[in-house]
Amino acid sequence: MTSRLPSRRLILSQSAAVIGAASTGLLLPQIVRAQPNKVRVGFMLPYTGTFAQLGVAIENGFRMAINEQGGKLGGREIEYFKVDDESEPSKGVENASKLVQRDKVDVLIGTVHSGVQMGIQKVARDSGVLTLIPNAGVHAATRALCAPNVFRTSFTNSQPTLALGKVMMDKGLKKTVWITWKYAAGDEAFEGFKESYTKAGGTIVKELGLPFPNVEFQALLTEIAALKPDAVACFFAGGGAAKFIKDYAAAGLKDKIPLYGSGFLTEGVLDAAGPAAEGIITTMHYADSLDTPRNNQFRLAYAKAYRSQPDVYAVQGYDTGLLLVQGANAVKGDLSNKPTLYKAMEGATIDSPRGKWTMSKAHNPVQDIYLRRVEKGDNKVIGVAAKALADSGAGCKMG
Ligand code: PHB
Repeated sequence: MTSRLPSRRLILSQSAAVIGAASTGLLLPQIVRAQPNKVRVGFMLPYTGTFAQLGVAIENGFRMAINEQGGKLGGREIEYFKVDDESEPSKGVENASKLVQRDKVDVLIGTVHSGVQMGIQKVARDSGVLTLIPNAGVHAATRALCAPNVFRTSFTNSQPTLALGKVMMDKGLKKTVWITWKYAAGDEAFEGFKESYTKAGGTIVKELGLPFPNVEFQALLTEIAALKPDAVACFFAGGGAAKFIKDYAAAGLKDKIPLYGSGFLTEGVLDAAGPAAEGIITTMHYADSLDTPRNNQFRLAYAKAYRSQPDVYAVQGYDTGLLLVQGANAVKGDLSNKPTLYKAMEGATIDSPRGKWTMSKAHNPVQDIYLRRVEKGDNKVIGVAAKALADSGAGCKMG
């Protein structure tokens, strides 16, 4: 982690010393460290645990967007700060406070896990620090607890699954078992699925769950085999998703009961999951194979910069950078000009690798949801499941 900048008083006294020293021909080396004009950007992301690879992809994507601007924001240099939030909700407030109180960041970028996000949301609302959510989909952040200084560049947890139920019913899959980690992301993904699936006439035979980040799936897979549903739908992500896909196939279910999910299931895990992932159908606001000049250019540049393939998390990190760049340019780097900054971000159209998207009044993306199928280790687009889908923003009084 980067060290703290010196206080204004110290900088002033150093400047005075330099003027004095310069007149005597002696230059002090300390002046090199005094750069009060840098924008202080704090990442609060998981760098360990089951979501570690998600945190890295988000940071990579963000840095790529900034590097496209010569590494600057509204003409100002950037100083980065980092906190590993470990996807640990009980440390959410404490970790966010480290960035806001100790490191005095101008912008907080975080996080992945919905439970941790609730801690960030509290600190963001209490401090007023500009906060960009590059993943966590917890509804409250852009519903009842929405705030003028909080912008999400990803999704709400129910957005991807709101498009899933109808897709499954259209395929004649009338009885489904739902399985997930039991925490906000899984529960809210279920809300979206339940709404669309039951509205289309489907029956949810059973709701199965295990605590996050538990990956002991065996007993639940045995239960699924006994229930014999037409299909299984789920929310899992990161390392846990790769294990679920492999365990599902190893339990002999892959060719008997088709597996569907919120698209995170197959993001960033296709190499690890191997052939066990082939044929899985998901709904998501991005797909590797989107054949647009914008996506192709992004994928090439990302692969060159990071020697790995981008996934939805990298795209969300990149879009977080694009949004911040638009805001910072509108205020020429003066992030303290909040009315102009927020207005620019609210009105932004993000030219994303996922396709162009805009901000809802509650500060959440209005975006297309794609239907994807895993083919030869790639998330292939097979249709658009929902056009310009907005979250309800229920309970948010902004706008
Ligand atoms: C969440 O906790 O909100 C979450 C985590 C990982 C995902 C999606 C949502 O892939």
